Amino acid sequence: MKITVIGLSRKYPLIDKHPKWTFSNKPTLLRWFKSRAKGRVLHLCCGHTRLGINEVNVDISPNSVADVIADIFHLPFPNNSFDTVISDPPYKLAYNRRHEFVEEISRVIKKRRGSRILLKLDFIPYFKDFGLTELHIYQGKRYWARISLLMMFEYGVSSEPKPLEEYLETEK
Ligand SMILES: C[S@@+](CC[C@H](N)C(=O)[O-])C[C@H]1O[C@@H](n2cnc3c(N)ncnc32)[C@H](O)[C@@H]1O
Repeated sequence: MKITVIGLSRKYPLIDKHPKWTFSNKPTLLRWFKSRAKGRVLHLCCGHTRLGINEVNVDISPNSVADVIADIFHLPFPNNSFDTVISDPPYKLAYNRRHEFVEEISRVIKKRRGSRILLKLDFIPYFKDFGLTELHIYQGKRYWARISLLMMFEYGVSSEPKPLEEYLETEK
C-alpha cells in the first residue's frame, strides 16, 4: 500500500478568499480521481464538477451539475452497476448514516476484479472483498484544518490492518 502526505498550496491565506470547495480548482485532486477511474463510473456528490469521462454524476442539489438528482443513502441504481465509484461527500456527513453511504456504494459497485472505489473522506470505511491499495493524507491549508484521506479500494485485494505490536516488532 502507498501512503503519502500531500499538501495544498497556500495561495489563499484568508478563509474568505478561498474559492468555493470544488475539484474544479484543484487540478491535482481531479487528476488523481480521473487517472484511476475505469469502466462505467459513478460520481457521487459531484457538486460543481463533471469529470469528463462519461461518468454518471449524482448530487442531491438541483444547483449541482448532476445528471441524476438523488440521495446517496438511496441510490436509484440496480445492484452491481458500476466498475468505479468516486465520491467526495460533505465533511459533515452524518455519523449515524455513514454506514448507509458505505452500504449503498457496496451495493452498486460490481463485485469483480478491476472494480475500484475512490473516496475523499475523514474516516476509513470497510468494504467486504475490497482492500485499501492507496491512502494519501490530504492536509488542509492550516494546522488546525481537518484532514481528509484520499483512498482507493480495489476488489479482490486483501489489506488487513497491521496490528501496532507487529509494526513495532519490525523496528527492533
Ligand atoms: C464536498 S461537496 C462536493 C464537491 C465536489 N467534489 C465538487 O468538485 O464540486 C459535497 C456535495 O455533496 C452533496 N450532497 C450532500 N448531501 C447529499 C446526499 N444526501 N446525497 C447526494 N449528494 C449530497 C452536496 O450537494 C455537495 O454538492
